[in-house]
Formats: sequence, C-alpha cells, structure tokens
Amino acid sequence: MSSSLTFLREFLRNPTQLGAIAPSGAELARLMITSAHLKPREVVVELGAGTGSMTREILRVRPRGPFVALEPNPVLAKTLRERFPEAPIDERPAQQLRAILQDMQLGQVDCVISSLPWAAWPQSLQDEIFDAILDVLSPQGRLLTFGYVHAQLLPAAKRLRANLNERFMLVRTTRIAWWNLPPAIVFCCGRPRERAPTQPGSPGGLRSP
Ligand SMILES: C[S@@+](CC[C@H](N)C(=O)[O-])C[C@H]1O[C@@H](n2cnc3c(N)ncnc32)[C@H](O)[C@@H]1O
Repeated sequence: MSSSLTFLREFLRNPTQLGAIAPSGAELARLMITSAHLKPREVVVELGAGTGSMTREILRVRPRGPFVALEPNPVLAKTLRERFPEAPIDERPAQQLRAILQDMQLGQVDCVISSLPWAAWPQSLQDEIFDAILDVLSPQGRLLTFGYVHAQLLPAAKRLRANLNERFMLVRTTRIAWWNLPPAIVFCCGRPRERAPTQPGSPGGLRSP
C-alpha cells in the first residue's frame, strides 16, 4: 500500500491523532527544513513523523548527526522504519521527550521539527506538549511547525499563534507553500522565553553529555 493510502486509512481510524488526510507535500517539507538551517552536529528531533515527508528532507540535507523521529502511531512507525532503516524512530509521544533523549544519551535539543496537529487539540494537550518541548530545548534552540493557510483565522490557529508568542521571543512566518494540499505556512520560533525553575526533587533541565 502506498504511504498516502496508509496515512489516509490511519486518519480515518484516528482523525485527531493525525489531524490531516494526507502527508505533507515536497514543497512544504523543503520550506520547513530549509528554514530550519540544520547544522551537522546539532541535536534534531522530529515530532509526528507520519509516513516521513519531513524525515526524508531532514535526512537529505543532513544525512548524519544526532536525530530521532517520534511517531506514536504503530502503523505509521512501521512504514517509517521500512522507508528509513537508518533513522532512529521512537513510538513514544512528544510528552515523553525527556525520557527518550535520556535513553539515547542525547543532551539538549537544538531544533524541533514539529508536524503535530495542534489545531485539532485542546489547550491542555497543547500546553502539555509545549512544556515537554521547552523542557528539553537549549536556550539557543528553535522550533519549526506549520499551519494551514485556510484555517489561520479560526480560533484554534489563533490559539496556536498565541501559544508560540507566549513561549518564544521570536516567531517568524515563511512564505506560503501554495502547492501543498492544503496550502500551509511555517512558523519559525527562536529564543525560548525563560521558564520558572523546576521544583527540587523534580527532574532538572537536561545537560549536554
Ligand atoms: C499532520 S500528521 C504529520 C505527518 C508528517 N510529518 C507529514 O508532514 O506528513 C501528524 C502526526 O503527528 C503524530 N502525533 C500525534 N500525536 C502525537 C504525539 N503526542 N507525539 C508525537 N507525534 C504525534 C500523528 O500520529 C501523525 O503522524
């Protein structure tokens, strides 16, 4: 079965987990990964790898270097492993980022590439995942994520934008990837805002190995 059909079938089974009926197209993947300016030794984490549109582009521009792709849907994770046997794929969700990085002996993350379906999620889940990202992101780290153009005036998209502005000092949008179905823009977020220190006894910030 083609990866697009696998994706559609999994969307029909679990629409809020996937949040889209089709994988991202090549134009959006190129726009997202070019905008990330990945460097060879940076720790890169992909959230919501799906069938690998972004993964393919990440590995094309940066074939080596510390990397992990997260995909909690087991059917999609299997497809990913078949397509990219060289790439570490983890089936745990983004909420478990800290444990995943510790297991891989990776330090703080330099770049998070997220295709997570924020707009399909309630505020509480968005908050939980943003907290997990900021918990592992280095002070110079960045987050790239995308949104569909037609939905930008809807409350869910405004909520995402507010969430990004609340957590990052720099939030820039790219041009529109018009050939994507549906057309999309990328949010490039940098300079994470400082968060309140963690309580004694709770896990502290990750340190580079
Ligand atoms: C819109 S799809 C994007 C797939 C692919 N990256 C692309 O651009 O075509 C969102 C993906 O996020 C995954 N996902 C959903 N919840 C997640 C979570 N808590 N942590 C990590 N990935 C998650 C879904 O299984 C799905 O594959």
